[in-house]
Amino acid sequence: MQNAALNNPIQNKKNTSDSSNMQAPQLNGESGFQNIIGQSKKMMEMFALVNKVADCDSTILLNGETGTGKGLVAKAIHQKSNRANKPFISINCGAIPENLLESELFGHVRGAFTGATSSKLGKFELADGGTILLDEIGDMSSDLQVKVLKVLEEGEFEQVGGSKTIKVDVRIIAATHRDLSEEVQKGNFREDLYYRLYVIPLMLPSLRERMSDIPPLTSFFMEQSNRKNNREVNEVTEDAMSMMMSYPWPGNVRELKNMVERLVVLKGSGEIAARDLPPELRNSQNYEPSAALEISDDGICLNSAVTEFEKSLILQSLEKTKWVKNKAAKLLHLNRTTLVEKIKRHQLQPCNI
Ligand SMILES: Nc1ncnc2c1ncn2[C@@H]1O[C@H](COP(=O)(O)OP(=O)(O)OP(=O)(O)O)[C@@H](O)[C@H]1O
Ligand SMILES: [Mg+2]
Repeated sequence: MQNAALNNPIQNKKNTSDSSNMQAPQLNGESGFQNIIGQSKKMMEMFALVNKVADCDSTILLNGETGTGKGLVAKAIHQKSNRANKPFISINCGAIPENLLESELFGHVRGAFTGATSSKLGKFELADGGTILLDEIGDMSSDLQVKVLKVLEEGEFEQVGGSKTIKVDVRIIAATHRDLSEEVQKGNFREDLYYRLYVIPLMLPSLRERMSDIPPLTSFFMEQSNRKNNREVNEVTEDAMSMMMSYPWPGNVRELKNMVERLVVLKGSGEIAARDLPPELRNSQNYEPSAALEISDDGICLNSAVTEFEKSLILQSLEKTKWVKNKAAKLLHLNRTTLVEKIKRHQLQPCNI
């Protein structure tokens, strides 16, 4: 089997990409994103936006599936802001029990509740002058949402059990994997807080929407893992990379990172070949999107499900035929004109841009 330099899959597919000659300044650190790898069009747009908004105090709402890098980007925004030498405090609102979260956020005075034997500063006070990341804000109770709204509007709050109003100067970044506008419609998230957070929305694309980032990310994680674990795995075969490029990566970059680390540790040296990949990746070429469709208790919109299904089959046929539309149309038993119309309607593009 032939070895492939990690970026070969990009080179091989270059003819299918309509992306410009955009280089990857974040790889060599020119734009200050040394740890955030990405050269796809979507990531370049994201970097440009981060550069524009980092040094203002506007609230940022980071949205994206799990493992897309929301935490990483929040930290980068802080580091590029003029608050960089002040604290960056992150709190996962979904991981802390509701009754403790208020005290974690706002602190408490001594005796505020059973067990509060001394006073404690909350994250907002600890972040004074800097940035706070309210991670998984979509999981916060509506009582706390009111209190966070007050901090956003007036920059002030009271500690649990306290009566003194505390003022802070904190830049707020909120992150969630949920669709907050949908949560507002369902009545799970306050509309006023949503609009207060929705000043600068930043959407992190899923990994399957930026497949061209897989080779550089793999390379980066492989290097990291070799160094950390004293290993010498240096290549991924073309077959293996092609399987990695067809897998939907539901856990996004985190899933890729963990898989690469596992492969590097187990392999020890040499190359990663197709047979080294876990079964879900080896079978990914047969990935069946309809298998993931389940009717939840909330029901399902048949029309949009059918549309999504059509879209994914068209995409699959295009990827299989390297976007040669005549061939893709044949696979779908359609004529070319109908396929072209559907590509336009669904706004489909080659994914390695
Ligand atoms: N573009 C990237 N370049 C390098 N590493 C990345 C990138 N995106 C994510 N990672 C790494 O992947 C892992 C997951 O990223 P992160 O925790 O920021 O995701 P997240 O969107 O906050 O996920 P969750 O919603 O589960 O909290 C981290 O180890 C992070 O360093
Ligand atoms: Mg996170």
